[in-house]
Amino acid sequence: MSMLTNVVGWIDDRFPLTKVWNEHLAQYYAPKNFNFWYYFGSLAILMLVNQIVTGIWLAMNYKPDAAVAFASVEYIMRDVDWGWLLRYMHSTGASFFFIAVYLHMFRALLYGSYRKPRELLWIFGMIIYVALMAESFMGYLLPWGQMSYWGAQVIISLFGAIPVVGDDLALWIRGDYVVADATLNRFFAFHVVAVPLVLIILVFVHIVALHKVGSNNPDGIEIKKGPKGNRWSDTAPADGIPFHPYYSVKDIVGVIVFLALFSVVLFFMPEFGGWFLEPDNFLPADPLKTPEHIVPLWYFTPFYAILRAVPDKFGGVLAMGAAIFVLFLLPWLDRSPVKSVRYRGPLFKIALAVFVVSFVALGYLGTQPATPLSTNFARLFSILYFLFFLLMPIYTKLDKTKPVPERVTK
Ligand code: HEM
Repeated sequence: MSMLTNVVGWIDDRFPLTKVWNEHLAQYYAPKNFNFWYYFGSLAILMLVNQIVTGIWLAMNYKPDAAVAFASVEYIMRDVDWGWLLRYMHSTGASFFFIAVYLHMFRALLYGSYRKPRELLWIFGMIIYVALMAESFMGYLLPWGQMSYWGAQVIISLFGAIPVVGDDLALWIRGDYVVADATLNRFFAFHVVAVPLVLIILVFVHIVALHKVGSNNPDGIEIKKGPKGNRWSDTAPADGIPFHPYYSVKDIVGVIVFLALFSVVLFFMPEFGGWFLEPDNFLPADPLKTPEHIVPLWYFTPFYAILRAVPDKFGGVLAMGAAIFVLFLLPWLDRSPVKSVRYRGPLFKIALAVFVVSFVALGYLGTQPATPLSTNFARLFSILYFLFFLLMPIYTKLDKTKPVPERVTK
């Protein structure tokens, strides 16, 4: 027996190492037809790790104190060895994290991955999404730049629009009458400890739920219900292949390509023309001077556009909340007999296309100053956004679907 087998044997007698390895990797059978869209789950894990590791090193020199926070970030950028790289890996990394997560969610729309039996997997994903938005919102306050300050001011003041309890609630969140040192301190605590912990736990249960039901795939059929037996096992689904080494290797290809793209942005245009870090945030926070346009980062702008599209403030807050909440209901809104877009009819395809155009258009409009014309467009696209969900039980039922194959195709 080699030294390694000895060590593994010793561990296995005390901890289920080989058992877990086999159940979740070497003998975990995933559908053999994963495509491009299946890269983004592992890429989201990669970016979560990137954020945590660079975040820990940033915290070594960052100071969560309104008097020195901005200067401590400048110190990291100019004087700390490799500090500029850590900071940009974290700030550009946040945007790449959202790119991965948005594409990951879109895949679920394409292939109906949120449908039975994956409703809970989807719900966990949605909670991750909300937690991730909270995480990046609070992180953006930390550099204590103009946009940090005024962005937080605007968003927290939205809570003030809630009837009766609103003002007290906003005061409670800020810990002061305006965004101030107390706000910075608590956002720091949430950003570096509480929310990351929640995210890690949520990602863990997301994967546990995934492994309980097994992955969906581009054909949207359940390989577990198909024939059994393949070259590795007589009891495994015939259309399954061991996750390791087949998908571990495939995922490494995704990682390399993704990191190459990430590096190009990171080293040549880390602020991405103001989309990943806004120019106003290179000015220290000034409570007496409001920036001309207060705009959140791109991953929030579709919802920001919906908020601004409603004339009444509280109505806007409700619409924005509803735009996120309605995503949770997706598993129950979709009544199609098929899951994958491959076998859906024209109605779903048109609806999905309209939805994507609306979401991107809202994202763009949310970055622009509100004019009467742009507000009307934002209203139109907000309505289309909601119609995609509200009419879904109808058009998915009426749609002319195609027959689904018995076995996965390519
Ligand atoms: C930190 C963020 C996230 C991480 C690390 C993560 C991780 C993963 C991983 C590793 C997989 C399996 C590989 C794959 O299918 O790509 C997966 C599957 C899945 N995730 Fe996520 N996820 C995240 C966020 C989300 C969000 C925000 C949603 C939706 C709201 C979501 C919904 C799903 C669904 C439905 C599946 C199953 C897909 C299928 O089998 O077709 N995930 N996730």
